[in-house]
Amino acid sequence: MALTKMPLHVAIIMDGNGRWAKRKFFPRTAGHKAGIKSVRQTIEFAVEKKIPYLTLFAFGRENWQRPKEEVDTLMDLFTKVLVDELPMLKDNNVKLVVVGDKSRLSNAVLSNIEIAEVATKANTGLMLNIAIDYSGQWEIVEAAKEIAKSVLANKMQIDQLDENRFVDFLQPTIQQPVDLLIRTSGEQRVSNFMIWQLAYAELYFCKKLWPDFRKNDFQAALDDYQLRKRRFGKTEDQL
Ligand code: FPP
Repeated sequence: MALTKMPLHVAIIMDGNGRWAKRKFFPRTAGHKAGIKSVRQTIEFAVEKKIPYLTLFAFGRENWQRPKEEVDTLMDLFTKVLVDELPMLKDNNVKLVVVGDKSRLSNAVLSNIEIAEVATKANTGLMLNIAIDYSGQWEIVEAAKEIAKSVLANKMQIDQLDENRFVDFLQPTIQQPVDLLIRTSGEQRVSNFMIWQLAYAELYFCKKLWPDFRKNDFQAALDDYQLRKRRFGKTEDQL
């Protein structure tokens, strides 16, 4: 299908790694490892289609409650992927930023985040956000704290706050509203992902488990997006 409408910001909840592994009688962590191929294909496809912003939900604040072995494996994977995929990110002119609460991450993860962010800082193509120890509610609370500080420091009056101004206090690289949210594995939830930015997003639920997600599945989501009538609260006649 010809893509006449392109989303500026695509967000993806990469779900189903555990079920993928279970179906194959593998440990859950094998599902996360297999999911890296899907991450790579997704980034490459976003670059090919010239999508400006892509945000991937890799680890939610609630995910710390998972078994320690799984959390440790995920953290090791993030550490490794940030190094292994750096040449691919550079070749594709991708700028990478990790969004989330960095205070609970290990030094190994933090230092590789720093290396990858610095190495891709000047890139001008796809803005790739990877959300780690992130939740939408956390982001809104952080924004509220920053707003309170600004008011206390007399940098801003409470009455100046409105929806547009509030956005300035969200995490810098994900302030762009999400146009298309893709969630794999058939689950139909937002799961505390960019809840502010998703206000008018089109939601697309794909039955495939994340490790099976390929470029043609991303293409199918874009094809479906072409059929959506986005009204942003207006009537159809007003559009
Ligand atoms: C959800 O599946 C997936 C995750 C919590 C982790 C996602 C991480 C990766 C794909 C690895 C690498 C990613 C990057 C961006 C470096 P689940 O475990 O909730 O699956 P289930 O619902 O079937 O149990």
